[in-house]
Amino acid sequence: MDRQRIAWLTLSNAALVVLTTGPALAQMPIEVAAYNDRPPVNEQTIAEGKRIYDLSCVHCHGTAGRGDGPVAYFLNRSFGPHPRNFTDGVFKFRSTYSGDAPTDEDLFRSVTKGIPGFMPGFNGLAPAERWKVIYYIKTFLPEDLLEFEPEVVEIVGEPLPANAASIRRGYEVYQQLNCWECHGPGGQGDGPKAPDLEDDWGFPLPSADLTRPSSFKNGSRPEDIYRTIVTGLDGGAMTSFVDMMRGREEDIWHLVNFVLALSR
Ligand code: HEC
Ligand code: HEC
Repeated sequence: MDRQRIAWLTLSNAALVVLTTGPALAQMPIEVAAYNDRPPVNEQTIAEGKRIYDLSCVHCHGTAGRGDGPVAYFLNRSFGPHPRNFTDGVFKFRSTYSGDAPTDEDLFRSVTKGIPGFMPGFNGLAPAERWKVIYYIKTFLPEDLLEFEPEVVEIVGEPLPANAASIRRGYEVYQQLNCWECHGPGGQGDGPKAPDLEDDWGFPLPSADLTRPSSFKNGSRPEDIYRTIVTGLDGGAMTSFVDMMRGREEDIWHLVNFVLALSR
């Protein structure tokens, strides 16, 4: 990466007021080629990853990955979530079971697309550069988290046609699983439990407004919402529903249709 581009990236990150990653980007599937354009993990690529980190990530995530960069320092205590402390080893956007590490592809997706409202997307970095910075942030994670290859939660079946019957069934499942307690009867994030929710770090955690899929941090395609429901988002109130829904995968797809219908 040339110096000019590095300077540009740093500047664009400094413009923290305009953090939102557009809905268009959130919808885009990641190019398969980018997954394959993957440099080897070695001292040199990790060192190059550190250089990118120190330019693009450090002001939020901090020099030692503890989520305590200067930007974090200025963020309001009553506004969550704050930049992640990687040494905690807690990840929201996984395709793996709750408590497990994310796959490298999960991290690649987060870094590429960013987190709407909280972190810019880094698709301006070449895929190889994104991989290198991921190799570097993995050096911050607790060792035991990386001991085993994490198991991916299977996505059973595929999206169902979003017809009236499916959305009605999805509504029943939404009631049954008490999604409304946090997300509210109309999905606006105003359920009775919502005002008191905090994340594991003690910051207020708004229940997502389900009527605004473009704000979904973990993606808003049906497959993405399925993944959010089965894996949960660790570190907060949104728990994994994989055990509860085993054998009822069709109901998950109906629920996905209901969630997507809330914005219409
Ligand atoms: C403007 C501040 C900011 C910048 C710059 C930033 N991040 Fe983040 N990052 C955040 C915040 C805030 C969160 C937590 C969001 C949440 O929990 O919803 C986060 C979370 C993450 C996560 C956790 C994802 C998960 O599954 O939980 C990863 C990985 C990550 N950032 C990597 C990076 C990398 C790599 C860079 C640099 C290329 C970077 N971030 C730059 C603010 C930032
Ligand atoms: C105990 C409260 C609680 C319950 C119950 C709950 N959620 Fe959530 N949910 C949350 C919170 C809090 C977030 C935001 C997490 C974050 O931003 O880190 C969230 C986020 C989401 C998101 C957005 C994810 C994203 O990509 O940003 C979806 C979709 C969602 N929940 C669906 C559901 C469904 C469907 C159910 C029922 C099966 C459910 N939730 C049950 C608290 C809850």
